[in-house]
Amino acid sequence: MDTSLFESVDQYIGNLLGDEDAVLKGTLKSMKDAGIPGINVSANQGKFLQLLAKLCNAKKILEIGTLGGYSTIWLARALPADGQLITLELEQAYADVARQNIIKAGLDPVVDIKVGRAMDSLAALDAEDSGPFDMIFIDADKPPYTEYFEWALKLSRPGTLIVADNVIREGKVLDDNCDDERVSGVQRFNKALADNKQVTATIIQTVGTKEHDGMAIVVVK
Ligand code: SAH
Ligand code: DHB
Ligand code: MG
Repeated sequence: MDTSLFESVDQYIGNLLGDEDAVLKGTLKSMKDAGIPGINVSANQGKFLQLLAKLCNAKKILEIGTLGGYSTIWLARALPADGQLITLELEQAYADVARQNIIKAGLDPVVDIKVGRAMDSLAALDAEDSGPFDMIFIDADKPPYTEYFEWALKLSRPGTLIVADNVIREGKVLDDNCDDERVSGVQRFNKALADNKQVTATIIQTVGTKEHDGMAIVVVK
């Protein structure tokens, strides 16, 4: 497939309406310099997440998968001054880079990075009664997406918005015999989403500067 048109249109949208400032550009550069993989959301996807956070008037956001803090900064910028964003990251080295970027963005008063396995951090958040969150962004490792979704539901209230990244994987989710565990992980998640009576949801396909993929948009009933 020739994806250059999608890329050009993504650039066009970003030039028109994007808010990727020096701090966000610097975040991407810091990731490159540190050898962190460029698997962050695109600029327009970051703006989209920010708009969703504003739409649901989010005061408390939970993010699963911090990387270098790129999506974190987009999301945290939607928060009021007394808002809170908790972001979960396995890799201490990534969290250190993210922390520097969050400080440069002036967002350290509202962002809390929890380092460790997301499954453990989620259990701890639940035990500490940290919920309910207004918005939850699932974007860590793909095999346990279904379990992250179950924790997200526990940390939700009616009306909570849950967004899960990377649930289409260039259409590989159509292949029932795919042996990539990242694909089977999101296939299992998509099925669990469809079967769950507690939520209403759809999936938006995404194209642009990143490969064809999709985000599940979920509202807790
Ligand atoms: N949300 C980021 C991208 C996250 S990439 C952005 O768009 O900017 C996925 C992240 O999940 C990586 O940083 C990876 O280290 C982290 N991760 C992988 N397995 C994890 C686990 N078990 N617990 C917590 N984080 C994990
Ligand atoms: C991968 C993870 C992501 O969150 C993403 O947006 C793209 C790729 C990955 O692990 O391959
Ligand atoms: Mg992702």
